[in-house]
Parts: sequence; C-alpha cells; structure tokens
Amino acid sequence: MKMDSREIAEIAAAQAAQPRLNLYAGIHKALRAFMADTLLAVGRMDVDDDLELAQTCHRVVELLGFCRSHLGHENRFIHTAMEACAPGTSLKLAREHEEHERDIARLAAGATALLAAPPARRGALAQALYTELAVFVGHNYEHMQVEETEHNAVLWAHYSDAELAEIHNALVATIPPQETMLAMRWMLPFLSPAERAAVLSDMRAHAPAPAFTAVLEAVQPHLTQPEWAKLVRALGLPVAPGQAH
Ligand SMILES: [Fe+2]
Repeated sequence: MKMDSREIAEIAAAQAAQPRLNLYAGIHKALRAFMADTLLAVGRMDVDDDLELAQTCHRVVELLGFCRSHLGHENRFIHTAMEACAPGTSLKLAREHEEHERDIARLAAGATALLAAPPARRGALAQALYTELAVFVGHNYEHMQVEETEHNAVLWAHYSDAELAEIHNALVATIPPQETMLAMRWMLPFLSPAERAAVLSDMRAHAPAPAFTAVLEAVQPHLTQPEWAKLVRALGLPVAPGQAH
C-alpha cells in the first residue's frame, strides 16, 4: 500500500536523526540526471542536422540500456533481499519493472525508427519520441520515490547497514567497466560535494589507480570550477599550475 505523507515524513525524520545506508540514493540521482538531460536533448534536437540526430538517438538508446540494466540489478539483488525477509513486499514495484521493460522496448524502437526515417517524417517522430520519453521519465521519478521510501523501510527494518553494504558490493561487482564509467559520468556530477568526495575516496581505496584516474578525468568536464576545487581539496589531490583557488 502506498505510504501517505505522514509516513514518508516519519521515515525522513528517522533518517535525519540516525542516517541509514540508502542503496538507492546515488544511482537514482544518476538516473534522474541522465533521464532529464536526455529528455531535454530530444526536445531541442535539430532533426535536419544528421549528426545531431544520430548523436541524440544514440543517447536515447544508451539511456534505455542503462535503465534496463538498472532494473535487472534491482530485481536480482534488492528485490531478492526484500523477498527473503519480507515476502511479497517487492511485488508491486516488480510489476512496474515489467511495465518499464515494455516501455523501454517501445522507446528504443521509436528512436531506431526516427534514425532511419526520411527527412519529411523526422519532425513528427521526434515529437512523439519526446512526449513518450517524458511520460516514461515521469513514471520513473515517481517509481524511484516509492523505492526510496517503501522499499528502504523494508530494507532498513530487516538488514543492518553492514549487510546492506554487502548486497551493494555484490551488485556492483557484476557491473562491467564500461557501464561503471557511464554510471559515474551521470552520478558524480549530480551528487553533493560531500557525497561526490565519499564515492571517489571509496573508489580510490578499492579500485585500480588507472580506473580512479579515468573516472576523475571523465567527470571533471561536467563539474563547475568551484565543485572541482572542493573535490581536489577533499581528496587531497595535487593542484595543477593555474588551477589553484
Ligand atoms: Fe526500480
């Protein structure tokens, strides 16, 4: 049953008083950013510019692949953990995941059709893709809020933070490097400075040095100068000449 605003406020108050590990927080910020940015890119796309059309359709397909992979991670790791201790609690959103799978297939077909369409049909197909993607993004924003309230309530009631961290580590270990880079590209710029520094500190401690460097280089262009300066300070990175603040 959907939580009411009082129950959601209680969870928020408990989380503020004694923060628990929120497995959804970072990746959902990445998804919200990737979805919003891609939707806006489709809306402003010049369909008469072949290169821009190809790049934007590619981005839509990349986003949809990322969403599909995310559904798989939640089904396999989060829902399994919930069902193990509280049977039935993941069923409602598992059904929504099945709907999202169908939406993803339809939107991917729309992007592919737009890419192959003759110039005279591109405008109408682009408008249809834009509005259908907007509805998909809207559904997903609401869906993620239910996960971060109702699903987290189940997870926090039955698992310690250490156990949740184990689930998270097992999930992350299944993600191939290219997908990790895409997740970092959309997650890190849209975290708060403290969250960004925490994710990168953890990565520096556990990932190979070249992977850490590659992520830093991929993310820097998407940060403002003040954000980059804060990150450099937080991580104690050497500051290149001319970049001091
Ligand atoms: Fe989900």
